Amino acid sequence: MSVQTIGLLTSGGDSPGTNAAVESAARRIWERGGRALGVREGFRGLIDGLITELRPEQIDGIGAHGGSFLKTSRDARIGQDDGRERARGVLRQAGVDGLVVCGGRGSIALGVARLMECDVRVVALPCTIDNDIPHTEASIGFDSACNKAVSLLEAIRETGRAMGGRFFVVETLGGDTGFIALETAYGAWADAVIVPEFEFDLQRVAGRIRSAVEARGYGILVVSEGTGHAQQFTDALQTLLGVRGRATALGHSQRGGPPSMRDRFLGRSLGTFAAEMVMCGESGVMAGMHEGAPSLVTIPRVAADTRRLDVRRYQEVNGLEDPPRMSIQKNPSGTSQPDRRSP
Ligand code: F6P
Repeated sequence: MSVQTIGLLTSGGDSPGTNAAVESAARRIWERGGRALGVREGFRGLIDGLITELRPEQIDGIGAHGGSFLKTSRDARIGQDDGRERARGVLRQAGVDGLVVCGGRGSIALGVARLMECDVRVVALPCTIDNDIPHTEASIGFDSACNKAVSLLEAIRETGRAMGGRFFVVETLGGDTGFIALETAYGAWADAVIVPEFEFDLQRVAGRIRSAVEARGYGILVVSEGTGHAQQFTDALQTLLGVRGRATALGHSQRGGPPSMRDRFLGRSLGTFAAEMVMCGESGVMAGMHEGAPSLVTIPRVAADTRRLDVRRYQEVNGLEDPPRMSIQKNPSGTSQPDRRSP
């Protein structure tokens, strides 16, 4: 049998643990006697021909680092006929039999779905801090981002305890979803959380913050970036409460940095599995984690389905007896925010 050539590509926002997936996939390709190619800068590199042979000494140890060793991009050209035609030519010239593509919801639902038209086998990996990809227990990078956000929130809580009479609004990343915000609010005992998926009542939120300030000197509200900015919520609550508020946007500090142990584990097991599967002839699938073991799900199912927030956890953080109302659906991801998916 001829030697198989497998390309590795990372697309969209980087996430801690993606390098662990790339290192593990490359190792497995070599163990199986294949060639591993690195596609630089995501779909842009695929279209513009930025492909190089990977060597073991290059990837050795990259799994311990955040970011993306291969570099990444958001490039919508893979969704266009001429972009795909160029990618097809690049893949043919490099002799690529299969690709392992690490990316988020947009990269998988739009980019990978179109890439399957390029006469190449494709196995995708769920790599995003947002954790908004269905059919996997978690995406690679989510745990690291939440650990980071929780520890920053704990630091804010310390200063809150030391100097009372204030409230804090902390804005997380997450795009048009609230997974990071909810997990962080839950893990750090915030007094309220606002996410794009559910309607909220600002008067009620103000009541929660007021009670917290009165009871222990400070209150903490977590908002997902998809609902608005921390400063806007701070201004509105200051007016309602007459208490000093301070806004913090955690921003990209949540996305960089070394992967947590959980993300190393996810990256390693799913990266190894994806390489194995693409070399066995699988295509048009995503490797996800189910009950602790890697398994495959088709890309159309991933694209069609929506991951749901844990309603009970949301109720617990906000002290709600009844389930919240869903925000008005205006886009395919089932949230009230504009659909910001792009490859
Ligand atoms: O990768 C997902 C994400 O980090 C979202 O949480 C965030 O909204 C977006 O990417 C930020 O994108 P960019 O790095 O292009 O500003």
